[in-house]
Amino acid sequence: MPVSSVPTLHELYAGRAKTLGPAQIWPEHEGDLITLAYGFAAPEMFPTDDLLAATAEVLAEDAAEGLNYGPSYPGLVQLVVDRMHAQGTPAEPGNVLIAYGSSQVLALLPEVFVEPGDTVIVEGPTFMGAVRHFAAAGAKLLTVNVDDHGLDVDALESMLRDLAKQGKRPKFIYTIPTFHNPSGTLLPLERRQRLVELAKEYGVLVVEDDAYGELYFENPPPPRLSALNHDGWVLQVGTFSKILAPGLRMGWACGNHEIIQRLHSFKLEGSSGPYLTRVVERYCADGRLARHIEELRAAYRERRDLMLAAIAREWPKDVMVPKPEGGFFVWARLPKGMSATKLLAESEKHGVTFVPGTHFYANGQGDDAFRLSFSFVPHQQIEDGIARIGAAFRTMV
Ligand SMILES: Cc1ncc(COP(=O)(O)O)c(C=O)c1O
Repeated sequence: MPVSSVPTLHELYAGRAKTLGPAQIWPEHEGDLITLAYGFAAPEMFPTDDLLAATAEVLAEDAAEGLNYGPSYPGLVQLVVDRMHAQGTPAEPGNVLIAYGSSQVLALLPEVFVEPGDTVIVEGPTFMGAVRHFAAAGAKLLTVNVDDHGLDVDALESMLRDLAKQGKRPKFIYTIPTFHNPSGTLLPLERRQRLVELAKEYGVLVVEDDAYGELYFENPPPPRLSALNHDGWVLQVGTFSKILAPGLRMGWACGNHEIIQRLHSFKLEGSSGPYLTRVVERYCADGRLARHIEELRAAYRERRDLMLAAIAREWPKDVMVPKPEGGFFVWARLPKGMSATKLLAESEKHGVTFVPGTHFYANGQGDDAFRLSFSFVPHQQIEDGIARIGAAFRTMV
């Protein structure tokens, strides 16, 4: 065989990578660099002693089932059901799937719903960690803008109307109505009601990603979309990552029984963690999770306030920074003509990093904005990081 025709290993996989973005990058020891980029939890807040106690209890009392193959612990399924009821969402155990993080549910969605070429509606900006799965399955992504109050429901309605005229029915709408990643926005009640009405009218599933819904800093948010529709048009995706610990990789989907069953049947490795589901349930018992969430709200509120106060001191006044009422993120909009990518390059020279807006759009927009996370780094680094970005701004004018 001539040398030039020797097959290469690379040819076996190169084509499949086209629809994916870069692999997840984890923070390394980056010297003096302050990272306001990562939406990680505050490490000081992990309830390690209580988790240790819950782990010991499970091992002492339930090791035979917890450590063997088996289903997710029914007690945790019931706990999710109870939490749904507390939000006003009717649910029974058959409406809940426990998964390895909400990311696993988001990855399963296209398995159940998407054939190559199918339409999926996403927000702009959005959490691309989810949207990349839809793209990889060959979905045609259509973007509806998010304004200061979340998804622009008028724009969604005209998109749905146009698609219907062409005889097209999107498979689902992926939305983060409560303390949005990255924009921090909160969808008001009236928009929520219209959104679920539109879903029903046009026959499109709404996937409500509620990753940050519990982390409100002032008032509780309006009812979840899943509480506003009881006919199965809303599938809620939730997670213990933001209210307990991301490293547990524990999340859920709650929705129509048949959809939950389909998701389960594509979860080919089987049920999630007999062991960890017991530990999480044991930890959450006796109101412990509720108390912990209260502490998290106070801790993250303090960080948000610190970041906003530093921004008010250190940055040009024409950078628009709405106050997020919950969640992990501040979203900054630049004055006309300024580029977030260029600001990032300048900021890195000053020893601070963040995520430019282009990372949050499926349609290439976003260089006029950027995301800062206040959840992860200690207080002093929040203040220093904002001051360093302020210095970067001053070199650009
Ligand atoms: C909006 C949103 N959804 C889902 C996730 C994934 O969370 P999990 O840890 O449950 O996979 C994240 C994580 O950052 C997120 O921001």
